[in-house]
Amino acid sequence: MVSLSSHPARALRGEIAMPGDKSISHRSIMLGSIARGVSTVSGFLRGEDNIATLDAFRAMGVQIHDDGETLRIEGKGLHGLTEAEDVIDCGNSGTSIRLLTGLMAAQRFYTVLTGDRYLRRRPMRRVVEPLSRMGACIHGRDNGEKAPLAIVGRPLTGITHDSPVASAQVKSALMLAGLYADGATRVTEPHLSRDHSERMFRHFGARLETDAAGVTVYGGHELAGRDIVVPGDISSAAFFLVAALIVPGSELLIRGVGVNPTRTGILDILAAMGGSVELLDQREVSGEPVADLLVRSSALKGIEIGGDVVPRAIDEFPVICVAAALAEGTTVIRDARELRVKETDRIAAMASNLRAAGATITETADGMIIEGTGRLNGATVESFGDHRIAMSMLVAGLAASGAITVSDTECIATSFPTFTALLDKVAVR
Ligand code: S3P
Repeated sequence: MVSLSSHPARALRGEIAMPGDKSISHRSIMLGSIARGVSTVSGFLRGEDNIATLDAFRAMGVQIHDDGETLRIEGKGLHGLTEAEDVIDCGNSGTSIRLLTGLMAAQRFYTVLTGDRYLRRRPMRRVVEPLSRMGACIHGRDNGEKAPLAIVGRPLTGITHDSPVASAQVKSALMLAGLYADGATRVTEPHLSRDHSERMFRHFGARLETDAAGVTVYGGHELAGRDIVVPGDISSAAFFLVAALIVPGSELLIRGVGVNPTRTGILDILAAMGGSVELLDQREVSGEPVADLLVRSSALKGIEIGGDVVPRAIDEFPVICVAAALAEGTTVIRDARELRVKETDRIAAMASNLRAAGATITETADGMIIEGTGRLNGATVESFGDHRIAMSMLVAGLAASGAITVSDTECIATSFPTFTALLDKVAVR
């Protein structure tokens, strides 16, 4: 178990580029593999989660060449995947297991999907249940709630699924199954979750319609290989945005960040807290909006967070909690119950860690109340095996009155293997 310590910084200064977006990197491998012809992917995130997806498709017979810069995927067409000889291990990756469950349900072969001890605790019935209504045959522990999942591929029929949670993983699993299903597969959700699947399906020539309530995919049409440039991950940029805001005297330019409106809740929340983040050179890359972000340290204040901004910032709440603890005034987070079923229970994990650093926090069923005092103490805390908890607490250490030590930090490699190197590059000591 590797512990890392983060020490108070004098400032964060300079320019950095973010590694590729995790969600888009997963989808590029999946669609590239089932398209006809060659796809190339540049900017692919080489984190453990995405490597799990890449290895899964290699195990199903897809040739994926990597020259260190660009991936070249020899797409096999909708029905070209072949049965993996062994169980497919998705590691810590919820996106891999849930999206693959949808895709595997429609294949003409048998698949077993599993993951690490954290992933095996996470809810899967949210995809298993609607897929079963499409005709899928999927078995899992706890009546289909938990991995390992055993999937016997079958012909599927389109359904309408009104998802009770705003979840891009649920939506995308059904969209992938819908590519193979007879007729139309429609998914609606209470608030729009990230729409990278919709954008990439379109880029690959899939037949689909989107409207205010959801997405409809029409099955039985082949996709065509494409070239994809993956933008930088705004969820990774979030750690540097908050770090620069909370360390006085900071000014940081973060280049090439994806600013898809379904992901920019963090920018809205930080602006409402009084943070200065400018979007420069806005452009579009492979159907996704991209910008450079210029962030300057700012006095932050507490705010209320709830409603449709929650799915638009869902992965950023751990670091938002850090910003809130260092703000002046109370921050109330509500409508964020989903945080309890992420890589760990992120409400409980952040409440426990920030309390250890001297913050006053009340947990609620769907969020928390953070009494911002503008200061945190040094502390020793846990990652709970969750990459975003680990990185958030290391960010907190930059602005605390003493060092923050985080145990079990190997998990950072699931999404952001270069995090500490980039932090060392811009932190003025
Ligand atoms: C993701 C969707 C979100 C997010 C996860 C990545 C995706 O999960 O938290 O990190 O790539 O579709 P949910 O769909 O469970 O909200």
